[in-house]
Amino acid sequence: MVTPEAKPPLSVLSVVAEVFPLIKTGGLADVAGALPAALAPEGVRIVTLVPGYPTVMAALEMQEVLHTFADLFGGRATLLGAQAAGLDLLVIDAPHLYNRPGNPYVGPDGQEWGDNAQRFAALAAVGAFVGSGRLPAFEPDVVHCHDWQAGLTPAYITYGTARRTPSIMTVHNLAFQGQYPASVFASLGLPSYAMSVDGVEYYGQVGFLKAGLRLADRITTVSPTYAAEIRTPENGMGLDGLLRGRADLVSGILNGIDEAHWDPTRDPLLAQPFSVEALGQRAANKAALQGRLNLEHDPGALVFGVISRLTWQKGLDMLLGCVDTIVRLGAQLVVLGAGDGWMEQGFRDAERRHPGRVGTVIGYDEGLAHQIQAGCDALLVPSRFEPCGLTQLSAMRYGALPVVTHVGGLADTVIDANEAARNRGIGTGVVFSPATRDMLDTAIMRTAELWRDQELWHQFQINAMMTDVSWRGPAKHYAALYRSLARAEWA
Ligand code: ADP
Ligand code: GLC
Repeated sequence: MVTPEAKPPLSVLSVVAEVFPLIKTGGLADVAGALPAALAPEGVRIVTLVPGYPTVMAALEMQEVLHTFADLFGGRATLLGAQAAGLDLLVIDAPHLYNRPGNPYVGPDGQEWGDNAQRFAALAAVGAFVGSGRLPAFEPDVVHCHDWQAGLTPAYITYGTARRTPSIMTVHNLAFQGQYPASVFASLGLPSYAMSVDGVEYYGQVGFLKAGLRLADRITTVSPTYAAEIRTPENGMGLDGLLRGRADLVSGILNGIDEAHWDPTRDPLLAQPFSVEALGQRAANKAALQGRLNLEHDPGALVFGVISRLTWQKGLDMLLGCVDTIVRLGAQLVVLGAGDGWMEQGFRDAERRHPGRVGTVIGYDEGLAHQIQAGCDALLVPSRFEPCGLTQLSAMRYGALPVVTHVGGLADTVIDANEAARNRGIGTGVVFSPATRDMLDTAIMRTAELWRDQELWHQFQINAMMTDVSWRGPAKHYAALYRSLARAEWA
């Protein structure tokens, strides 16, 4: 329940389209779900505003109506103060917008909902309503907006008449920008002058993320390298000019992972818990994984794992061209993912061509994701770009060496196990560049070479497991950013 008297030193409204464990399509949900607990020790209370999709509504443990909107983008809606899974929530109960099957963005047929502009404008408008202090039950000091779905929040704050609470726009993925035809503008309830290059207009269209980047007080992204990359024409996806113009307001704060959820010593989803001290017990997880995916029971075979959306970003089309190399090396491959149909089919075919050596599971499976992290020897993340990436962090914690491209957060979190790193005892994975099929092939062969020296492999595994991938460090950066904004406001 959102109670006014429990106001700690700093409160933040997090505006986001998904939050783990209530609703998740990717790492955005993990981050939104982990930030509140991570920031609590810093004296920051985060309340998360999410749309009331069916799974969210079903999970609410306690709820109270805090406000009623007579007409929120075409229907009556209520704003609920609620709790679920240990999270303090504000939930927009608007059945006409959110009570639908499918995931937050697409219907069961895989097609985007035709009114996504209005559905997420509603999220942003309610974010601005609460953000600008109009809900007595919760008046945040800072509004934290995540990705394009929350991008209009700073616009509604800027062009509104209530308090101008400072806002942060966090980019989790610049590839998703929420761009809509100019005709959508009339439905947004913004003043006509907002449709300008200094407002929400973007190359003649309406740009949700663009609006957030233009109007928020600070911009963050989820790794320092991605913060630099998105200011270049090659990686700025059309927004680099704007980001260069506001460069002094842009920073990169690395993601962490929830150490309680990803804890190999007490993970109930594993066949056998293990730790750095009892690494031998990890073998039972490899055997269980090989069993579950009908792979040959071979403790000595190097098992590569993949847990990913199957999209161009993730570079897994390149992996399809490397399957034969993996098999030729005597290694095995386990793939868990969903996404582009042709890639799904490609991995199904790979399994058919190499029974016992390649195992493919198409779909989303939280339990199997944990079992792959605990049972594979090396996790492949050959992304073409990667704002941060979370699976390489879980892999390290679970003693699977990540094999990654030198981009974005992958470059910031994995240390290549090369000769120099070996000498200094610091390697944690295999890093390659550029993101091409040939270089991935070479990286796979390098990994197999490392695997042949089990003593060395062990050392890298321990380095990886000892790496701090928690939220502790990042939380301090967010707390400092929140406080600097709140101080500026109070001054
Ligand atoms: P992105 O957000 O770009 O998809 P991240 O690495 O940041 O990539 O986060 C992906 C998250 O989704 C991780 O928590 C990962 O374990 C999870 N994940 C991805 N695909 C699947 C899947 N098919 N089944 C279960 N979990 C998955
Ligand atoms: C995005 C990015 C991923 C990042 C995640 C959470 O989905 O693709 O790199 O880890 O958001 O910030």
